[in-house]
Amino acid sequence: MATAATASSPASRIALGRPSITEAEFAAAQRVLESRWLVLGAENRAFEEELAAFCGRRYAVALSSGTAALHLALYAMLQEGAGHADSILVPAFTFPATANIARFLPGQPEVVLGDVTADSFCMDARLAASWLSQRRGPCILVHQFGHPAPWPDSVGKTDEEAAPSPENDALILSDAACAIGVPGAMRGRAVCLSFHPRKLLTTGEGGAVLSDDQGLIEELRTRRAHGLVVRPSSSGKPSLPGEDVDMPQPGLNYRLPELGAAIGRVQLARLPQLIARHREIAEHYRDRLSGHGLTFQTDHAQRIYQTFAVVLPSGHDRAALRQKMAEAGIETQVASYALHHLSAYSDAKVLRLNGSVSARQDGDLTIASELHSRGLALPLHAELRDADIDRVCTTLLAALQKPGS
Ligand SMILES: Cc1ncc(COP(=O)(O)O)c(C=O)c1O
Repeated sequence: MATAATASSPASRIALGRPSITEAEFAAAQRVLESRWLVLGAENRAFEEELAAFCGRRYAVALSSGTAALHLALYAMLQEGAGHADSILVPAFTFPATANIARFLPGQPEVVLGDVTADSFCMDARLAASWLSQRRGPCILVHQFGHPAPWPDSVGKTDEEAAPSPENDALILSDAACAIGVPGAMRGRAVCLSFHPRKLLTTGEGGAVLSDDQGLIEELRTRRAHGLVVRPSSSGKPSLPGEDVDMPQPGLNYRLPELGAAIGRVQLARLPQLIARHREIAEHYRDRLSGHGLTFQTDHAQRIYQTFAVVLPSGHDRAALRQKMAEAGIETQVASYALHHLSAYSDAKVLRLNGSVSARQDGDLTIASELHSRGLALPLHAELRDADIDRVCTTLLAALQKPGS
């Protein structure tokens, strides 16, 4: 049997993630290489149009990473005077890039942390609502692992009653690095995507900003390519390259290579299938793992599954359990990070439900801390077979039942 492990044929390794690459991606890469046009061209333009249409926003700007997307989008929002830039609110449980960008913005706004909820793993909407009502500054909503974050305008309202508030949206940056296309995550002034290889759509490294605001998008297009713009030629004739160039504001090099854009277009066409397969795998995990003391993030109807994370019962040694899984050939990862457990943010201030902001005290950010120490990401990629998922579950449950052995 090809899949059975025996003493002489050790079980094959089950990777945590594996980008789904087909002949079509290889063909797209070859097409670009043959064209010799490797930077900002037809592939980027087409990818941006197709991406915006898929996500239901008017415009997209392709960029070199999700971090670049967050950095440029927040930079542009602050330039326009989106409230005070003294501080920004971010969820305490997120990938560090969400907060790190603040250190690379003018004035280095202070990062303030808000706790997440145990069901969504996303920031408690009451915190964002309180922050925005005090007009303290921008707020980044992270749609963790593909689950849409509850929006501040939903607090105390039914879905029918909740109406987007343009004043709030102007201060909200949506970090949808893990939530491409999820309706509740594609909202807000600007939406940031990542195309890192562990995301459902990958371009290698890559990212994008989505928005309906043409001015914001133009600003990002200029800033991603050094800030250089071509002025209309004074002679009325087409000018030679570089002759009529100006740089009103400095920019960076945050461009997505044409190779990435071409691969991204193929991945985008395949995305509905990839999303469906990830959901099937998540359902398989839930069926097999329910009733054993593990808890899960909510299975929101509109969500996608970029990560399938379980929360171990308290008192379990996660590292020891992961070691056993590694010995059985199964790769795992911590689910994500509570920022205040990382040295760079150990002194970060905390926003509480009563609206106060101050240094962290006992009893603050408890859910983020629990997810940090007990959250475990299981293998999730489209090439996993049902037998692989069963093997992951059997190994995990055995390790849970006999922690010491
Ligand atoms: C929530 C979140 N935000 C931002 C990022 C950064 O994206 P990138 O790795 O493309 O820079 C990630 C990446 O893993 C992420 O998970």
